[in-house]
Amino acid sequence: MRSLKRIIPISIIILAALTSATIINKKEDQNKQYQYFENPMKCSGCHWDRFDRWNTSQHSKGFTGDFFQAQYFDMVLPSMGFDDKVAKANEDCIGCHSPSAFLSGDRLPERSLETDNHWNRGDGNKTRADRGIFCDFCHTLDRFRNDPAFNHDYISHATEEVDAKRADLEFAWSPYHESQTTEMFEDANICATCHNELNPYDVWVKATEHEYQESVYPSRGILCQTCHMQPMAGKPAKMGFQRKLNHDHWFGGGFAEFVEGAAGVYFQNEFEQVPAGEEIDFSIMVKALATGHNFPTGSVEERDVWLHVSLNNAKGEEVLHIPVPLNPSDPNDKYFITSNEKIAYPNHSELSEAIERDGLTEGDRIYHSVFLDSKGEYTYAQWFCVEEIENRLRPLEERMENYTLRIPENLPDGQYTLIAVLYYRRMPDPHADFLKLERRPVIEVSRDVRGLTVH
Ligand code: HEC
Ligand code: HEC
Ligand code: HEC
Ligand code: HEC
Ligand code: HEC
Repeated sequence: MRSLKRIIPISIIILAALTSATIINKKEDQNKQYQYFENPMKCSGCHWDRFDRWNTSQHSKGFTGDFFQAQYFDMVLPSMGFDDKVAKANEDCIGCHSPSAFLSGDRLPERSLETDNHWNRGDGNKTRADRGIFCDFCHTLDRFRNDPAFNHDYISHATEEVDAKRADLEFAWSPYHESQTTEMFEDANICATCHNELNPYDVWVKATEHEYQESVYPSRGILCQTCHMQPMAGKPAKMGFQRKLNHDHWFGGGFAEFVEGAAGVYFQNEFEQVPAGEEIDFSIMVKALATGHNFPTGSVEERDVWLHVSLNNAKGEEVLHIPVPLNPSDPNDKYFITSNEKIAYPNHSELSEAIERDGLTEGDRIYHSVFLDSKGEYTYAQWFCVEEIENRLRPLEERMENYTLRIPENLPDGQYTLIAVLYYRRMPDPHADFLKLERRPVIEVSRDVRGLTVH
């Protein structure tokens, strides 16, 4: 009996220790449920403009986006048996693309009945996983595990109740919810948690916040929010008062409004009279002007920026494409010149057939990232990337490109123009065709023109 009395307290201690251990685990798992997060429609009643802008943004299409749906369901899921390292690749995708699904333990949500994209969007009335990255997820965030944050290491504060909404307004008062001023909303970490990604092979396949930290912008007090959630005057909610400072919620990125003028192209030479048959050397400077990170950034295996240089007649017709010369001292230069060779794999090279790489005029300088898989092949499957080779433009960098133009002997005398155009595209056409997606439009970033007389 005596000994039993002694045992009981010990077992209680052990039990208590076990329980607290499970509580810690629960905290790690966060154990949320979908209904802890309110639907964006609920917020739209009072925050209509923010809802409208968010509904335009890619955040609202984080899960339902046509490209994400195709890659997640048709490429990722069938490839997870290939290697232990990618056995849970689906969970990571969900962690960033549908955080409330991730927090609710729904790591393999059902395929969306309807997909959308920037050009073809719905009314934003979405439920469960389809909500993507939405109001109540961001506005009930608590903190991040790492600094700088990465790989959806967010800790949510959402509960069953109507939670206090957190942001950075002073003296916010709402009849519907409590408000909490939180400095986290004026910090790049709230973006870094999803915009920095370390893949299963320890490659930083997204490093937008790291790139930003290396730029001049943090020291100037310019945040991701300054550029992507531009400060504006107005009313944060239908009721309440006018404020000098609140924020646009479009989160624009790789679209015309942001990409046009993001970099500039400048001929470094003047051309006057050139006899037919003559050879001239000239240079073009490409300068990143407006990006707070490399250009392009984000889904760097998809995004392309390229420089097309040509000689055009008085009618504006291209008479000669001027290719960039191969640099024999750089073995990677072949990756940085447009090519239509069939060498690009939509999945790991052992799981898919190669498609054309760029689907563009061959011979142009291209700024992008090349992802290689474990067989050294060019892949669009970022979860299989073991090495990145890249030549993207650093913020404010000035890059010089050198060309040689040989005026053809038979070119008629007259007035011509040399035209240099920098273009941007969200994904290569051959990849869009392969996934049966609408081809993404080509956006003109910048152009420069020089006159030239052939005589
Ligand atoms: C990706 C995270 C994210 C999402 C999604 C998001 N917000 Fe915000 N929101 C922010 C951040 C960050 C700020 C503060 C910006 C700053 O201070 O620079 C903010 C600020 C606000 C504010 C305070 C006023 C202002 O504009 O500064 C309101 C109100 C607000 N958001 C409502 C919403 C609503 C409604 C939605 C959905 C339709 C939404 N937010 C979606 C991150 C988000
Ligand atoms: C009944 C109207 C109403 C509804 C519904 C509503 N809000 Fe608000 N919200 C307000 C008002 C009013 C303010 C304060 C505006 C001010 O002070 O300028 C506010 C402020 C905020 C702020 C700023 C908090 C701060 O401290 O900076 C955030 C964030 C926010 N709301 C998010 C949301 C989200 C997310 C939803 C949907 C789940 C939502 N609101 C639903 C009326 C509403
Ligand atoms: C929970 C994860 C998450 C958080 C937090 C987050 N983002 Fe995103 N963001 C994404 C995902 C995922 C996409 C891409 C969705 C898609 O197209 O499928 C995206 C897309 C974007 C885009 C559009 C890029 C393009 O051209 O398509 C911009 C810009 C952006 N985010 C900026 C921000 C900023 C600024 C913040 C911080 C205030 C932030 N994001 C916070 C996950 C997040
Ligand atoms: C000085 C302004 C500025 C700052 C600061 C800035 N950006 Fe951008 N961002 C841009 C511009 C301009 C573009 C369009 C050109 C491009 O696509 O890179 C862009 C594009 C993007 C894109 C889309 C890239 C693509 O091509 O798909 C994402 C995602 C993004 N930014 C996220 C962020 C995040 C996250 C931060 C903070 C860590 C940030 N940005 C800081 C200006 C800025
Ligand atoms: C750490 C967060 C994170 C993880 C993990 C992640 N993504 Fe993303 N994803 C993003 C962000 C942020 C963007 C937006 C970047 C940009 O627009 O340039 C994005 C963009 C995309 C896009 C481009 C969408 C478009 O419309 O152009 C696709 C497709 C995509 N991700 C698929 C996936 C798949 C599949 C997985 C899992 C293997 C995955 N992502 C894992 C954060 C993540």
